[in-house]
Amino acid sequence: MSTLSHADMDIQMVTKAYARLAPVYDLVFGAVFERGREAAIAAAERVGGRILEVGVGTGISLPRYSRDCQLFGVDISEPMLRKARERVEEYGLTNVEGLEVMDAEHLNFPDASFDVVVAQYVVTTVPNPEATLDEFARVLKPGGEIVLVSRVGAEAGLRHSLEHWFQPAARKLGWRTEFSFGRYAAWASRTKDVTLIERRAMPPFGHFSLIRFGKEGGAVRHDTPAAIRAAS
Ligand SMILES: C[S@@+](CC[C@H](N)C(=O)[O-])C[C@H]1O[C@@H](n2cnc3c(N)ncnc32)[C@H](O)[C@@H]1O
Repeated sequence: MSTLSHADMDIQMVTKAYARLAPVYDLVFGAVFERGREAAIAAAERVGGRILEVGVGTGISLPRYSRDCQLFGVDISEPMLRKARERVEEYGLTNVEGLEVMDAEHLNFPDASFDVVVAQYVVTTVPNPEATLDEFARVLKPGGEIVLVSRVGAEAGLRHSLEHWFQPAARKLGWRTEFSFGRYAAWASRTKDVTLIERRAMPPFGHFSLIRFGKEGGAVRHDTPAAIRAAS
């Protein structure tokens, strides 16, 4: 299990890394993360309603959602959001309610504001992943879902050793290579009203996962956790 603390990932470093990446982000990370984005959007659309995308980046996902969904995007990086605003304009996305600079760990929304909180390739880049997940659960309505696509580190073996070796370099790019699935599962099991409902391996190389959590209450029924047992 990763032992990285918030001191290992700081917001300024991440902000700097994404300011540099913004002009080339879509070219470098567009296609490689496509399948994960598709799966996350499909999961979010099954719930529908008002969707918050945290770490929306250049807004690469925004045109893919059904126009019936009302979207709000937040990101720590203004240069990434500038790209997202251009995209909203280009595609005439009238269903995008807002795009704002915001820290995932301190969301400026009242409790129970959204039907779905989506975070794609984000949770392992924030200083305090568990506190960030708490914040997602806070702004989520009862019956809603948190939908993540996240890197999941190996627990042991060669991949685990390589991830450990690569971590200092990855940190400068604003990434964590070491982050076990156990952290997500442990967060869900100690968080009131939150249940892990799915984990599904995603490309590239199955090193990423689609992870869904449901918040109890409300009218929405979350599907069976059988997929978790199959995938873990
Ligand atoms: C790997 S990119 C993913 C972008 C987009 N979700 C995608 O699918 O390509 C990570 C994004 O998370 C944002 N981010 C990192 N830390 C954040 C934080 N603490 N609060 C909000 N956004 C953050 C970065 O600025 C960047 O846009």
